Amino acid sequence: MIIGCPKELSKDEKRVALTPLSAKELIKLGFKCQIETKAGLESNYSDQDYKDAGVKVISSKDIWPKSDIIIKVRAPSKLELKLLKPKTTLISFIWPAQNKKLLEDLKKKDVSVISMDMIPRISRAQKMDALSSMANIAGYRAVIEASNNFGRFFTGQITAAGKVAPAKVLVIGAGVAGLAAIGTAQSLGAIVRAFDVRPEVAEQIESMGADFLLLDFDEDGSGEGGYAKPASKEFIKKEMQLFREQAPEIDIVITTALIPGKPAPLLWPKEMVKLMKPGSVVVDLAAEQGGNCDLTKPNKLYKTGNKISIIGYTDLPSRMATQSSNLYSTNIRHMLSDLTPNKNGKININMDDDVIRGSTVVLNRKITFPPPPPKVQAIAKHESKNTSKTQEEIEKEEILKQKKAGFQQLILLVVGSLLMLLIGYYAPPSFMQHFIVFVLSCFVGFQVIWNVSHSLHTPLMAVTNAISGIIIVGALLQIGSSNYIVNILAIISVMIATINIVGGFLVTKRMLSMFKKS
Ligand code: NAI
Repeated sequence: MIIGCPKELSKDEKRVALTPLSAKELIKLGFKCQIETKAGLESNYSDQDYKDAGVKVISSKDIWPKSDIIIKVRAPSKLELKLLKPKTTLISFIWPAQNKKLLEDLKKKDVSVISMDMIPRISRAQKMDALSSMANIAGYRAVIEASNNFGRFFTGQITAAGKVAPAKVLVIGAGVAGLAAIGTAQSLGAIVRAFDVRPEVAEQIESMGADFLLLDFDEDGSGEGGYAKPASKEFIKKEMQLFREQAPEIDIVITTALIPGKPAPLLWPKEMVKLMKPGSVVVDLAAEQGGNCDLTKPNKLYKTGNKISIIGYTDLPSRMATQSSNLYSTNIRHMLSDLTPNKNGKININMDDDVIRGSTVVLNRKITFPPPPPKVQAIAKHESKNTSKTQEEIEKEEILKQKKAGFQQLILLVVGSLLMLLIGYYAPPSFMQHFIVFVLSCFVGFQVIWNVSHSLHTPLMAVTNAISGIIIVGALLQIGSSNYIVNILAIISVMIATINIVGGFLVTKRMLSMFKKS
């Protein structure tokens, strides 16, 4: 099949859905790739770059009729709809909940449509999650735009000319964009505070060095699929009270609060803006969904009478076109890879696959939106949220489990001791001495390692590497023994311990490289 990538028509869109790197990977999957001439220019990819990657560069007239799969960033415009030929598969942002008419038109056109904004937020789909990759960039860029309009340093300094206080940044909504904004503001040296209706993000906020603002109100805002559910009126009232206390102190507010498919909640109204110091900045990421601030003008930078800059840009990822195109085209490439299980250049829209089902919005002349909820649990959802058990019931269950485990251990100990006595009755004393040491080390080793949490397995591996080293030394001393059984056991020990050591080093190296800034 031929994948075609047209140039984006919207004048505010600098991203491109195909990069030379992603094209190379798609060609490996058996596809042919073609791109409209100059489509990558604004993302800093020339036609020659594409040609070098094996992509055919063709005219705007040919790209639509000569492609079996069209990949794009923005939902098709009216003009693009006309160019779309029947039986084509379209992969792009569609926003089906907001674009009912477009869905009807696509259905009439008899095209299959994969909406990149409908990828469910489950672990397996993270590599295709275009909303997250774009929100990550938007969060970063929001801080950069804020700093561009803020007349001071972010970091505090003590200079000969005087002391500079660090800027105070408040991030409202700690989803993907919010967390990226927290990380960026933090790295620029600001004091960062954040708030979210989902209590489970408190740990993430704090692990990034920011302060989680606590609200004394018993309501959990976690909804389905790793997103929030609408907060009650009382909650919003309390939340605004909290923000009112913060407003006079805060220099920069970045609002990202959103519940999918709903207008953005109004959290930073005029009265809050009035309380801010002159020169402060509000960046409203939810501008496109109505804004978290009622003074926001979508796509504009607005200065209020009290000299507060309110930034409502809705094209933040496009302002970093090269980075966004790289990530978006990688998301698309992964989606196409899942759609091509046989790697033969032919896509198969398998509606039994959670991710493909979730993102397919039109198929076989039918609108398949909204999809059923994914069968797999969302990433951010806390395990205990899944049950309706009270804290007391959970504690009781825990005590019962502990009692059961203790009883099992007692039985194991009694049976083990009886077995030892039986062996000891027949075996020679020298064997028993070694055997007891062996059994005890197995028992202690098992107890110690079994209880280590998965996240600590890498440091644990460093310790077991040392133990494996001791095993190797012991085994080497035995190699050359006159007893061939001892020899064979020593060789096996060296082999297994070597695998453990080499494997340990490889995994540790991989883990460390994840933290390297290359
Ligand atoms: P997300 O769903 O991951 O995060 C939204 C967060 O807001 C969630 O953590 C949710 O719990 C929180 N929230 C909801 N109601 C709240 C309330 N009343 N108070 C405090 N927190 C609340 O969404 P994501 O992907 O981080 O995107 C955030 C926003 O950024 C969205 O509005 C999205 O459309 C926008 N966006 C804007 C771009 C731009 O160029 N302006 C580009 C990309 C995303």
